Amino acid sequence: MHDEMHDDAGCAHSTEPGVDVVRALRDALGADIVSLPDEFSGRKHADWSRTPSADPVVLIRPRNTDHVVTAMKICHRYAQPVVTQGGLTGLAGGACMLGGEVAMSLERMSGIESIDTIGATMTVLAGTPLQTVQEAAESAGFMFPLDLGARGSCTIGGNLATNAGGNRVIKYGMMREQVLDLEAVLADGSVVGGLRKMIKNNTGYDLRNLLIGSEGTLAVITRAVLRLRPRPRAVSTAWCGVPDYDSVTTLLREAQSRLPAGVSAFEVMWPGYYDFVLQRLPELRAPLEGRHAFYVLLESSGADPERQSEAFEDFLGEMLETGVIADAALASSEADAAAFWAIRDAPGEYPRLIPGRVSFDVSFSITDVGEAALRCEARLRERWPNATILVYGHLGDGNLHIVVQEPDWPPTTAPEVQAVVYGVTGEMGGSVSAEHGIGLKKLKVLALSRTPAELAAMRAIKAALDPSNLLNPGKVLSR
Ligand code: FAD
Ligand code: LAC
Ligand code: ZN
Repeated sequence: MHDEMHDDAGCAHSTEPGVDVVRALRDALGADIVSLPDEFSGRKHADWSRTPSADPVVLIRPRNTDHVVTAMKICHRYAQPVVTQGGLTGLAGGACMLGGEVAMSLERMSGIESIDTIGATMTVLAGTPLQTVQEAAESAGFMFPLDLGARGSCTIGGNLATNAGGNRVIKYGMMREQVLDLEAVLADGSVVGGLRKMIKNNTGYDLRNLLIGSEGTLAVITRAVLRLRPRPRAVSTAWCGVPDYDSVTTLLREAQSRLPAGVSAFEVMWPGYYDFVLQRLPELRAPLEGRHAFYVLLESSGADPERQSEAFEDFLGEMLETGVIADAALASSEADAAAFWAIRDAPGEYPRLIPGRVSFDVSFSITDVGEAALRCEARLRERWPNATILVYGHLGDGNLHIVVQEPDWPPTTAPEVQAVVYGVTGEMGGSVSAEHGIGLKKLKVLALSRTPAELAAMRAIKAALDPSNLLNPGKVLSR
């Protein structure tokens, strides 16, 4: 690594905007870490949200926290905006560029630094893929419970920056609950977070929780101490056909109160989603014969294999007898369970299956989710009778995903579709982002879910930590 002192050479002002900072970064960090546009041509800069992205001024790929500190100090000196990037699987446009930013990709800061099997913690670099962490936890006899369809490509830093949710929030909570401490670099290059491994730490304002979910606008997260959980010894999974929404909520309530190991996933799919993915993906198998008003993927995981599988079967039997479930398929092997989950993981194929889609990630109280879905679907159908409308989600968390598409829609249709779904979200007091974040995509609708006083407090926090608005400018809060 070059000495940061060399960047003084960059202070000889050039007339071309950005030249000084580029030279300073290159001098300080070298060509291995700082790539110029002709050295990264063809590289993708946009995330999964279908938000367009400009190209970065330069691409910085640090190998350690010192590199990030050096880069941030130089960017701070030259008032150079920075967009931090992880695996680019985000669904809100948070990692996309508006123009004039440098990209800071954490792809080389990948790896597990240590596992503490007594304290049940794992210290990782922020660019480590989620699946690598899940597999390492399992090899060490633990579980890392965060799970979502993009597990192979998304990074721990991205999961933290978006406070990702996914499939097992109902039992383990969101990403916020899976971490004990962070290390992060602020806009001026200072480092916060001590990678402390304790569970309790009431020492003033909680910076960790402030940075989690800040979508790259307050700091570059560089490392994290993750919290590991006991690996379940028994996982019971069923695919249930359910006759109506009241039965869906009854099934949830009964499963939570009666299954000895509780509920570790409660994913619900409306028939439009189920029919669409089964028709389009020939590798998927229908777990049940016949059609149902709702499909529930129910999972319970715990520590006592014998007692658990018996209790799970008995529970399903009772739910069938009382008509809460119309039909159910019980997974008798890991392969069966994987086949059920493959139906739920089909959104990973959306770019191929449903181009031009308009997608939503909204949440409501669990009581209201059924009605919210009905209202959205009815109003969308009224306006676009032939549209494909897919509704599904993490119902145990009140989280609905809605995907709407019609071939040959002009780009002007997306705002009209958004007006319908966000209209329902606003009138029912829901959230415009349950788990994907605000990024660029939801800037205009944030105020539907946040009060003016809350927005003012957010702006004050941003101004205090990043007064020059260098970190991910124009994301979360509009400029
Ligand atoms: P990126 O897309 O690279 O970045 C996302 C945001 O985080 C950006 O604002 C970026 O600036 C910021 N960021 C990234 N790394 C850092 C860092 N080190 N420091 C500071 N800021 C950083 N999400 C859910 O919550 N639940 C789901 O069930 C779910 N399912 C998904 C399924 C699929 C098929 C896909 C494609 C995505 C899904 N997501 C889901 C979206 C989810 O937010 C992302 O997959 C993931 O959390 C983002 O990680 P990433 O590394 O790809 O981040
Ligand atoms: C899912 C993503 C879209 O749950 O959040 O499939
Ligand atoms: Zn989701």
